[in-house]
Amino acid sequence: MVTLFTKYNSFFSQGVANTIILALFTVLLGTILGTLLAIMKLGKFAPTRWLANVYIEFIRGTPLMIQVMFLFYGLPMVGITFPSLPFISNSDRFMAGICAMSINSGAYVAEIIRSGIQAVDKGQTEAARSLGFKSGQTMRMVVLPQAIKNILPALGNEFVTVIKESSIVSVIGIADLMYQTNSVISTTYKSLASLAVAAIIYFIMTFFTSRLIAFAERKMANGTR
Ligand code: ARG
Repeated sequence: MVTLFTKYNSFFSQGVANTIILALFTVLLGTILGTLLAIMKLGKFAPTRWLANVYIEFIRGTPLMIQVMFLFYGLPMVGITFPSLPFISNSDRFMAGICAMSINSGAYVAEIIRSGIQAVDKGQTEAARSLGFKSGQTMRMVVLPQAIKNILPALGNEFVTVIKESSIVSVIGIADLMYQTNSVISTTYKSLASLAVAAIIYFIMTFFTSRLIAFAERKMANGTR
């Protein structure tokens, strides 16, 4: 296993780099999308609330693998393709992968934000409103500062999930860690060792991500006491 890793470490490190790029973009775009969806879902305007609901239910109710393949293999059938940028090889695959992952993650993030806000006790809003805060002020100055403590840890978990789930984009030929592992398997036939190496690398990535999040959480908790 160690010799396999040292011999093919360029494969694995290339894969790790692409997996990290993919996960970072996904978390960033997914959070933006999820925030918009949560705003729509919590809003007073029924049609956008309905739209956000349908989106969230549909995306969470269908496999990520279909979403990824739909964007990269399905959409070209109706003439929609992702551009191949000069200098960045496979940029079309990357963009399709990042879009699909963000579209998927956004639905989960929306629920994280919605539930984080709704978990703040109703009494907080009632107290603020009776003190004369307007509803926007109540949200900004009373509810959100408390909701953020529910939201951030869950968002961190989503990051960990995204790192793992990104392995699915290997089906559209993005050279992420899973794809690179498959390449090592096909050149060496050493499937056990290759998969074990990949699993350990994924674990290291998720482990340090969650440590980092736990650290940030502790920092925030200190700030409020
Ligand atoms: N394996 C799940 C699926 O096929 C992926 C869910 C992604 N989860 C997430 N929190 N982004 O749908």
